Amino acid sequence: MRYVLFFAAASLAFAQSTPDLNGVWKVNKEKSKMSGMMAQADSYASVQQSGSKIEVKTITMGEHFEQRGDWKYDTSGAETTNEFRGTKLATKSAWEGGALVIDMTGTDDGREVKIHETWTPSADGNSLTRVENNGRGETTMVFDKSPESASVFTAAPRMAKDVYQNIKDLNVPAYRVGEVMENFSNALGVRCGFCHVQGNFASDEKHEKQFARTMLVMTNGINHDVFHDHFRVSCYTCHRGQKEPPMHPEAASNAGH
Ligand code: HEC
Ligand code: HEC
Repeated sequence: MRYVLFFAAASLAFAQSTPDLNGVWKVNKEKSKMSGMMAQADSYASVQQSGSKIEVKTITMGEHFEQRGDWKYDTSGAETTNEFRGTKLATKSAWEGGALVIDMTGTDDGREVKIHETWTPSADGNSLTRVENNGRGETTMVFDKSPESASVFTAAPRMAKDVYQNIKDLNVPAYRVGEVMENFSNALGVRCGFCHVQGNFASDEKHEKQFARTMLVMTNGINHDVFHDHFRVSCYTCHRGQKEPPMHPEAASNAGH
């Protein structure tokens, strides 16, 4: 009987001590330790926690970039799958000593990706510290509770043209530019440097970038004129992982070998 009471009391205490991360949070740049573009940007997180399921939407708005994320965790021990820049991440999460501890693993171009995160709420519940280690470095983001930032998550996203410095034809929200660029690269079987000069994505110096823009206008035109604005033809439709799509089947069967 004593045992039963002891365990009942212990599990009750545990249930009560599970932190509540629900709400909208805004990064406090002064208290955070970030580098590069992230240090200047405004980052927000919107957390929906219900039982063992935690869903986090993130938005990072820089002067000239924007990122959005949608993350799912399950503290019951069940694995969840998240995606970051096209890389699938097998995710395990658990509460450990008042902190949400997250481990994500995946492979990107044959490279192993490992991300370890802890999310620790302050005792008063008004701030939340997220420490991320991806094996190459550690970033600490301190968030303040910010219900007034809820509109950031409901407002229409900023368009690519309004955020980046030299977008002429790409008609997508700014946060999707990274994904579109990954698609361009995969469609042609190249890396970013095929079209971009190092360190300056806005530059039109490389003729490959200018030609890609012509191709983009052509592809948009086909979808608009022929497919009545249904997105049916992509760069991949012709390129299939090659810089120069073949004209004839014989060439196709030789290509890539
Ligand atoms: C096949 C050519 C091509 C490849 C490969 C490519 N890009 Fe681009 N990129 C473009 C074009 C074209 C634009 C401009 C689009 C427009 O004007 O609407 C652009 C624009 C951009 C911009 C906006 C810059 C600004 O401020 O205006 C960024 C950032 C960018 N690319 C990043 C990347 C990254 C990162 C990669 C690799 C993952 C990549 N690109 C691969 C052709 C390419
Ligand atoms: C209707 C078919 C078709 C589609 C769709 C298409 N391309 Fe092309 N693309 C070609 C052909 C054909 C060539 C080769 C032209 C040549 O050899 O002169 C080419 C060449 C290119 C080149 C130059 C490659 C080099 O070796 O310098 C770039 C860059 C390019 N395409 C980017 C794109 C991008 C980005 C998209 C999507 C927005 C796209 N293309 C969609 C047919 C297509």
